Order: sequence, then structure tokens, then C-alpha cells
Amino acid sequence: MESRRSAPSRRDFLRSVGMTGGAGVMFAAMGALGLAPTAGAAPAFQPPRAADFRLSGRVPASVVVLGGGVAGLVAAYELGKAGYRCTVLEPRDRVGGRNFTARAGTTQTDLSGTTQTASFADGQYMNCGPARLAQWMVTLDYCRELRVPIEIFPNTNADAYIYNERDGMEPGKPVRFRTVRSDVHGYVSELLAKASARGALDMELSGEDREQLLAFLEEWGSIGGEYDYTGGSQRGYSAYPGAAGDPGRPLHPVPDVSAVFSSAVGRYLSFESEFDQAMVMFQPVGGMDRIPQALAGAIGADRIRTRCAATSVRQEANGVLVTYTDSSAQQRELRADYCVCAMPPHILAQLPHNLGPEVQRALTSVSPAPASKLGLEYRSRWWETEHRIYGGITWTDLDLRQIWHPASGFHGDRGVLIGYYNFARNAAKYDAMTPQQRVDRAVMLGERIYGPKYRTELVSAFSQSWMTTPYIEGAWHDLPEDTPDAAVLKPVARPTGRVLFAGDWLSYVDAWQHGAILSARAAVTALHGRALSR
Ligand code: ALA
Repeated sequence: MESRRSAPSRRDFLRSVGMTGGAGVMFAAMGALGLAPTAGAAPAFQPPRAADFRLSGRVPASVVVLGGGVAGLVAAYELGKAGYRCTVLEPRDRVGGRNFTARAGTTQTDLSGTTQTASFADGQYMNCGPARLAQWMVTLDYCRELRVPIEIFPNTNADAYIYNERDGMEPGKPVRFRTVRSDVHGYVSELLAKASARGALDMELSGEDREQLLAFLEEWGSIGGEYDYTGGSQRGYSAYPGAAGDPGRPLHPVPDVSAVFSSAVGRYLSFESEFDQAMVMFQPVGGMDRIPQALAGAIGADRIRTRCAATSVRQEANGVLVTYTDSSAQQRELRADYCVCAMPPHILAQLPHNLGPEVQRALTSVSPAPASKLGLEYRSRWWETEHRIYGGITWTDLDLRQIWHPASGFHGDRGVLIGYYNFARNAAKYDAMTPQQRVDRAVMLGERIYGPKYRTELVSAFSQSWMTTPYIEGAWHDLPEDTPDAAVLKPVARPTGRVLFAGDWLSYVDAWQHGAILSARAAVTALHGRALSR
């Protein structure tokens, strides 16, 4: 499977360990590389408390937070619990940053000046950025605390499709995920069982181990006693089984072993084993932006200034001076005791500041990476009625890469499919097109997988290109040495002054809200410690 990064990296290595060995192995490997705290080494987050100030005889400090994305909002929310006087400056007209949900009336202008307005029907939406939450992620704790209702997000679906056209599949003939899984597991089992039965693994396995392995493969790969994979009901049916007298028709023919491996379909199977993915994930009911909305509500509207873009940051002897343009394009100044910079690092690097050349070197060592999505709104849910697909992802080797079926609103009148979710050069290709050209190409390709309704039922579309979104300009970031603990990043990962930094890029769980939240919590903890010790 294509990585969302362009080249294999240290963190990709960790992900691949996670893929085969599960989280335990991954964290053990991280420990061996000195990257992960061993159990219990990282103290649990303690939100600052108002009582901390009463006990120390101090008053809560003032804080300016640059950026109203998830990291900035969480920093302001947690500091606010202790009475810090926070002001969030957000350059866009809404909070959330990359947590951005397009629904009826949502308007966005990209860096080239092209404006799109979503005309989805009421209740329809598209999560343009984050769209799924794993069960171990702290993001779910904020949903609980802020009473944001959540629902299941079916991330992997045995009934969704795989379509590898460059590797030989024909238009109109996608293959179900369950069929691919059966064939790949089946032939891997056949080959391994035959090799093992012939003694090829005798150096590695005791006789008892070999028996256990063979017993496992017989079931996992549905191979018979001769270890031949010949298909079976787990591949699916061309006619479903019915009442007595109607056993159904299992899917035939079974492709031969060479066809299965040359089609490269197996690459999609390990996706759900990655540590940050799973078959069952979650989403907020009604759109991912329910999370920033709830955070903003808890922080208080009077503390958040949208359409206010920072223009400079100066650390002074007793505080921080930020200049910004407000919503009427007026230049303004804001002084605070502390500053949390929760802006994208490469954008922050463009601002005049006096934080020193090492901070600047750290910020410019980080580079943004592209990812893009297209929402296609349909007047009927033909993928449910005609294809029997309810949620989950279709994977393809076309430049679309992924097509997502909506995870809610089942059996409703309408639905929004994600017509592509792609990274790197595939995203850059669509980013260079006009919104209409993106739709035209995506529909032309999607039609090959799903047939004519992909075109005829379409009513509206909205496309998101993170590289060309003002004030964000990237989906996530590539780090030097691929770690937030790179030496060059120390001045921003562990700053010593009154300016602190936060964002998913400053975490080991980048490209997730979880990482943004953990980095915000780290900044809050450092800031609070400093405020209490001055
Ligand atoms: N968090 C991003 C995703 O789930 C990378 O695709």
C-alpha cells in the first residue's frame, strides 16, 4: 500500500512493525530505539487547576494562542480550567484548522483565489480532514468530556471493493475485499503449508510447532488436507444462498496463484493492522467539527478571535508581544505573559519573530505534505441498494486511491461519498486542477468501478486540497530524521522561554488529532510549571 509519505522513513518502519506484530511489539521496538517511554514513565496529564494559583499566591497569567486548530483549542481549553486568560487568534473564519467539515453553505477560497461553496443538502456533510478516531486515542476522551456524541466508523468493510486496473482488473469488475482476502490468505497458506510439510522450515520449527502452524493455516487460508487452496464460501457468492433447495452459487473461477500475486491486491490487507487504524473506529455524530465547536464553546466565544492573522511574534523581558491583522484588516497588538504557537511550523517560519536563529532553523526543517479529498453528493444511496456496501473503503490503484462510503445516514435519501482520498503525487495532480476538472476525472474513473450511477446520480461536489488551503498549506508534515525528537527541533519541542509550540507535528502520532492534543497538553504542562515557578 502506498504510504502517505513519499519515502520509507523511521516512523514508517515503526508502523510496519506495528502492522505485523501489533502494538506491543511496536512499543517494544520503540523502546529499543529509545523513542517510547516504558510503561509508567510518562506521567499522566494533570490539567492545571485554579487551586494551584491559590496555593502559590499567584494570579493566573495571560496567554495568547496562535492558531485555533485542535492543538490551539485544547491548549486554551486546558489552561482555561485553571483561570488563565487566553486569547486565541485564528486567521480563518472558523476554528478547527484541519478539522474541517463542509456542509451546506460552507465556503472556502484556495490560494489561487478559487472559491467553492458546498451545496450539500441539509444533514449531508464531508469531513475534509480528520474523519476517524481510534479507540485508544485521547480525542475520544474529549468527546466524552465535552459530550460530543460519537458513532461507529466502519473503516474496513469486507463488502467494499478492491480495483487494481493497472494490475489487470477490467472496468466493471472490481473484486470484493472479502474475495481478495480469501485468495491472498488461501495461497499464502497453501505455499507455506506445502513448504512446511516438505520440511523446508525444519530449521525454524519443531515438529510440534509445525503441526500447530499447519492446523492454523488450514483454517486461516481455508485449505484442505492436501493444502490446496480451491476457494470456498468465504470468497463470496455470485448468487447468495437461499431457502432449502437453493444453496447459492459460490464465486468462480478462483484465480491462480500467479494472478493473485501479480495483481498486487494483497497490499491493501494489512492496512487495518496498522496501529493507528482498525476495522472499528469512531466519528462524531454530524461531522468531525463537532469537536472544535465543543472546545470553542467551552473556551468561550469572547476568548476566540477568528479572521485574525498573526503578523509577528516578539518575546520581551516580561511577556510576549504579538501583532496581527483583525477581521477589518486593522493592525493590532496583543501583549500576554505567554504565547502558545499552534500554527503550522512552515507558516510560522514566515512571520517576523525574535525567537532566534535556532527556532527558525527548527521551523524551516519541517516540510508540509499534500493530501486531498473530494466529496460527491448523490441523490440516492445506490452503493447500498445496488452494491450492498454500507460504509468502509474501496481501494484502487487509480490515482483516486481510496473511495469512502458514508459511515452514517444508512438507508437515507442521500449520501456523500469521498470520491478520492489521496496523498503525495496523486494529491498534487488533483490539486493542480479546477474543482470541476477534479470532479470530471474522479467521476470518469469511479464509473469504471461502480457503473453509470456514479455519474447519473451525482448532484453536487466539494473538493479539499490541503496544500492550497490558506493558513494551513499542508495535510501533515515531514520531520527531520522523521522524529519530533530530532536535535534540530529541540528549540521548539522543549522551548525555554515564554513562547511554546504545539501541533501534531510535535508528536509521535502526527496527522492525527490525538497527536495535536498530546503536544498541546505538553505545552500546557510546561507553561503552567513556568508560571508557578516565576
Ligand atoms: N490520520 C489520517 C488518516 O486517518 C492520516 O488517514
